[in-house]
Amino acid sequence: MGESWVNSAAVLGSDLHLELGGPGSRRAALIRALREAVRTGRLAPGTKLPPYRSLAADLGIARNTVADAYAELVAEGWLSARQGSGTRVAQRAEPLRPAHSPAPRPPAARPVHNLLQGQPDAASFPRTAWLTSARRALTAAPNDAFGPGDPRGRPELRRALTDYLARARGVRTDPERIVICSGFAHALRLLFGGPASGGHPVLGGPLAVEEYGLEFHRSLLEAAAVRTVPLPVDERGACTDQLSALPNVRAALLTPAHQFPLGAPLHPDRRAAAINWARSTGSPVLEDDYDGEFRYDRQPVGSLQGLDPDHVVHLGSVSKSLSPALRLGWMVLPEHLVEPVLAAKGEREAWASATDQLTLADFIECGAYDRHVRSMRLRYRRRRDRLVDAVAASAPHIAVSGIAAGLHAVLELPAQDGEQDGERGEEAALRAARWQGLALDGLTAYRHPEATGPARHGLVVGYATPPEHAFGTALEALCRALPGRRG
Ligand SMILES: Cc1ncc(COP(=O)(O)O)c(C=O)c1O
Repeated sequence: MGESWVNSAAVLGSDLHLELGGPGSRRAALIRALREAVRTGRLAPGTKLPPYRSLAADLGIARNTVADAYAELVAEGWLSARQGSGTRVAQRAEPLRPAHSPAPRPPAARPVHNLLQGQPDAASFPRTAWLTSARRALTAAPNDAFGPGDPRGRPELRRALTDYLARARGVRTDPERIVICSGFAHALRLLFGGPASGGHPVLGGPLAVEEYGLEFHRSLLEAAAVRTVPLPVDERGACTDQLSALPNVRAALLTPAHQFPLGAPLHPDRRAAAINWARSTGSPVLEDDYDGEFRYDRQPVGSLQGLDPDHVVHLGSVSKSLSPALRLGWMVLPEHLVEPVLAAKGEREAWASATDQLTLADFIECGAYDRHVRSMRLRYRRRRDRLVDAVAASAPHIAVSGIAAGLHAVLELPAQDGEQDGERGEEAALRAARWQGLALDGLTAYRHPEATGPARHGLVVGYATPPEHAFGTALEALCRALPGRRG
């Protein structure tokens, strides 16, 4: 083996790999190798080293050489030796970063309060009720539930959703027209292409979208080579009366219950215009019912699908009502789209877990879903009221809009002299918010790059996410960030 040899023997149940090479004596080589192992973190503080005898035997060197090397490293502070407990890597021997790792960056200032829209209150996930449903559902599940999944989704869940959506959202369907998926984003991928559709998109573009919407969804469509064409939005929701003026558009994606993110429900005339357009062109309207259950001041607005189940695809998920981590959603389809969607999904369910589907079916049927939505509605409504009161008290010149429903509101910044000024005002408010330790977005981030309608400037404030105990402090920080605040 010459001057350099490698040992990787099991020593008292643990492997110690040492390379003894380089110039000088074996004692010096062993000291170097052990020092290096501690320095790089391979031997962590507190690790017990092998007794002299066994390491000497493994390395083929004299026992005294090992004893000398240990003593030297104890003297240098790399190792510590205590009577009766052997030799260990010293607690204060800090492992050095590997030579190639980048220099440590100063820790990024992490926001203290999350006011980004998009998430429900994670602390309120109904763990106990969900577990009860899971236990009951798994006990009752037929054996075939544990075989390869049917891409339609479990019949138990499709039946439960048929009843629930009819009762709570005015959706008209039967279980055969429902296809379970893993959420709205998955539904878009199935409809328009991308890996989830097996290369068989059901619908083609261009697709009309509201000129304010989620950038994530626009880029998902773009990745599937679907062009999105912006539709103006005003206080009556999307201007669906302008759909027929958009050339070649082959489908329209709307948020009728609560325009995302501006917040208006689609006006009845606009609902009728959307349906008329779909009927006259044969192009479907996709209804993103992302937070339809959370309406505060009156009954939730019924689904658009209820007006014409043959021309509207109703899309929903549990992401706002329960948790976005469950990845469970549903597509309520016109009859002629069921088979194409199933073809896009493939022969087996690849996304939505059957056990979660069974649990959700039970959770809906036993009334736990309604109870959870009702209690969250109360909680979110209280938070919305506190937000509105806090802004009215500290910055009455800022209007809070989009507040009748949902888990977020828009704080509209007062008009500035020009569009650029408005954008700069929004940027300044976002900087001030970051300074206050807040994570939130401005409206500009939601605007379609080709939008032609007047630009809106403001802060999109998600009020569902902070834990209950931190909500008051988050509001105070938000108010401190508002331009032109009192005091
Ligand atoms: C506008 C909008 N649509 C749909 C969804 C739901 O998306 P997913 O079901 O993919 O979680 C969200 C987020 O929850 C949303 O903000």
